[in-house]
Amino acid sequence: PAYGMIKTETQGRVAVITLNRPKALNALCSELFHEINDALARFDGDDAIGAVVLTGSERAFAAGADIKEMKDTQFIDNYKANFLGHWTAQISQMRKPIIAAVNGYALGGGCELAMMCDIIYAGEKAVFGQPEITLGVIPGAGGTQRLTHAVGKSKAMEMILTGTVNLTAAEALSSGLVSAVFPPDKLVDEAIKTAAKIAAKGAVSVQMAKEAINQAFELSLSSGLHFERRLFQSGFATKDQKEGMAAFAEKRKPNFTNE
Ligand code: HXC
Repeated sequence: PAYGMIKTETQGRVAVITLNRPKALNALCSELFHEINDALARFDGDDAIGAVVLTGSERAFAAGADIKEMKDTQFIDNYKANFLGHWTAQISQMRKPIIAAVNGYALGGGCELAMMCDIIYAGEKAVFGQPEITLGVIPGAGGTQRLTHAVGKSKAMEMILTGTVNLTAAEALSSGLVSAVFPPDKLVDEAIKTAAKIAAKGAVSVQMAKEAINQAFELSLSSGLHFERRLFQSGFATKDQKEGMAAFAEKRKPNFTNE
């Protein structure tokens, strides 16, 4: 499909989605979200793709929801349309892993979009923040929840209540929000490298692992361990388990077939 606000490409089993609305610093308007969701759904359903990288430009990953688009909307319309809920459903239901490669601003909905991904890599000049309070609202796409899980209560409160305390890439790394920092021009390649590593594993075990990790945010420890053990056991019904363990015993590389 022809997109106007994103670019998509594939490199082997990795799909790359690049937000491409430079004049508005990739502000997330409804059309942009529609295109992201369309591309994600397509890649999630494509057996030739094993992982996705989501990125923006060097100046901005995304500077938030589109303030000009939403400024005159009314409660009743947003409530009826489930504003932000329907935009974010696709990405949070993705079965394949998504790596966010964040250069520049990840503010408001941009920070939240990155946090909906499974791994975040940052460029050295990345800025993470939740400025919604300065607009008279609060984060609406997971900022109060996912940021708190990632960086803890005090830092999340400080960022969200002031709206102006942001995290640099180095701070995001030390607080656990991101897992690695790279020079801006190397960032996307590094994300693709990691995505390729993941996409070369058995797709079923990758999906199971993602599912189990995400349950850590939903379940008690004993229920989470139970969920994990049942998935682990069911892995023995896959060809990839037989192949992976046979390859180890035979001292060769496994050839996973995603079955
Ligand atoms: C609409 C935006 C925008 C946004 C930037 N632009 N952010 N348009 N919505 N969120 C537009 C500007 O209006 C401007 O357009 C152009 O992009 C360049 O931005 P400048 O401000 O001129 O650039 P700069 O001075 O470098 O400042 C960069 C910035 C600033 C610090 C990132 O743009 C900024 O503060 N943006 C808003 C950040 C924010 O509050 N985000 C939270 C949104 S609320 P023109 O036409 O003037 O050139 C939100 C709710 C959660 O996200 C929803 C979850 C999905």
